[in-house]
Amino acid sequence: MQHLLAETDFSPAQLPELFALAATFKKNRGGHVPPVLSGQTWALIFTKSSTRTRVSFEVGIRELGGHALFLSKNDIQLGRGESIADTARVLSRYLHGLIVRTFDHADVETLAREGSIPVINALTDFLHPCQIFADAFSLSERWAGTDGDPLAALRGRTVAFFGDCACNVANSWILGAGLLGMKLRLAGPEAFAPGPEIAELAARAASLGGGSFSFTTDPEAAAEGADVLYTDVWVSMGREEESAERIEQMRPYAVTGSLMARTKPDALFMHCLPAYPGKEVEASVLAGPQSIVFDQAENRLHMQKAILAVLGQGGLRRGRG
Ligand code: CP
Ligand code: NVA
Repeated sequence: MQHLLAETDFSPAQLPELFALAATFKKNRGGHVPPVLSGQTWALIFTKSSTRTRVSFEVGIRELGGHALFLSKNDIQLGRGESIADTARVLSRYLHGLIVRTFDHADVETLAREGSIPVINALTDFLHPCQIFADAFSLSERWAGTDGDPLAALRGRTVAFFGDCACNVANSWILGAGLLGMKLRLAGPEAFAPGPEIAELAARAASLGGGSFSFTTDPEAAAEGADVLYTDVWVSMGREEESAERIEQMRPYAVTGSLMARTKPDALFMHCLPAYPGKEVEASVLAGPQSIVFDQAENRLHMQKAILAVLGQGGLRRGRG
C-alpha cells in the first residue's frame, strides 16, 4: 500500500502521472470528473491549525465523489490517551484513508505502519510533502506552459529558501529538489541549518532524482541568479515560545526588494502561507508582480486531488484499464 509521508514515497516514475492528474483536475474543475473516490470516506485528523490544507482536502475529496470527516484530536479518544496504534487499527476498519496533521513525524509513521489504509502527511514538524508537490506543480505551470514537459521544465532550476532551514517546509524542499532534479540553496542563521535528521532521506531523494542542496549564512549569495526566492514563517506551529529569539536571529534573512533584485529578472517569489509581511517577507514583495503565492494556494487543491486519486485507487490508470 502506498502512503505519502515523505516526498520520497513517490518514485520518479510516478511523478509524470501525478503532475498530469493535477493539470487535468485543474483544467476540468466544474466539469466532469471521474468519481475516483466514489463510495470512499477519508478522515482528516488534525492536531494543529490549518486553512489551506484542511479546506482544500475537504473540497477535493467532495469533488472526487468521496466523503470527508474532520476530526480534531479532542473529537476522538486519541486526545484522552488511546494509543496511536489502536486508533490506526480501528479507523482502518471504517475508512479508506487518513490525512494527518500533527507534531511528531513518528506518529504518522505509526498510523501508516499499524493501520491498513493509506496515510497522507498533511504536515508534521519534520515534513510538509503536499505543499512541495503543489509548489513544484505551480512552477511547472509557469515554466512549461500547457504543452511542455512539466518535469523537464523544473530540472536544473534554482530555488533559494530563506529563514528557518530546519523547518518542515525547508526539509520537504530538500527532498523535493532532490527528487525533481532541482538545485536548492538554503540561507539562514547557523543555528537553523538543516539538521542531521534529514540527511538519509535527502541522500535518497538526490540519488533518485539527481537534485542537490546547499546551506549558507549569506542571504545575498543565495539569491544571486536564482529562479525562485521562497520563504516560510520564522515561527512554526509549536515553536511559539521561541518567537522573540527566532525573529531576532532571522531578520537578516527577510525577503526584501533588494534581495529580489539579485535574482534572474523573471524570478518568482513563493511562500507556503500564512505570511507575516514585515517579518519574513516585505509587503511589497508578497503583493508584487513576481509573487505567485495565491497560485500556490490554489494548486494545493488540484495537486491533493491528484495525490488522492493515486493513493485512493491506484490512479486513473487502473480505471482506464
Ligand atoms: N500552507 C499551509 O499548509 O497552510 P495551512 O496551514 O493553512 O494549511
Ligand atoms: N513551517 C510552518 C508551515 C505552515 C504551513 C509551520 O509548521 O507552522
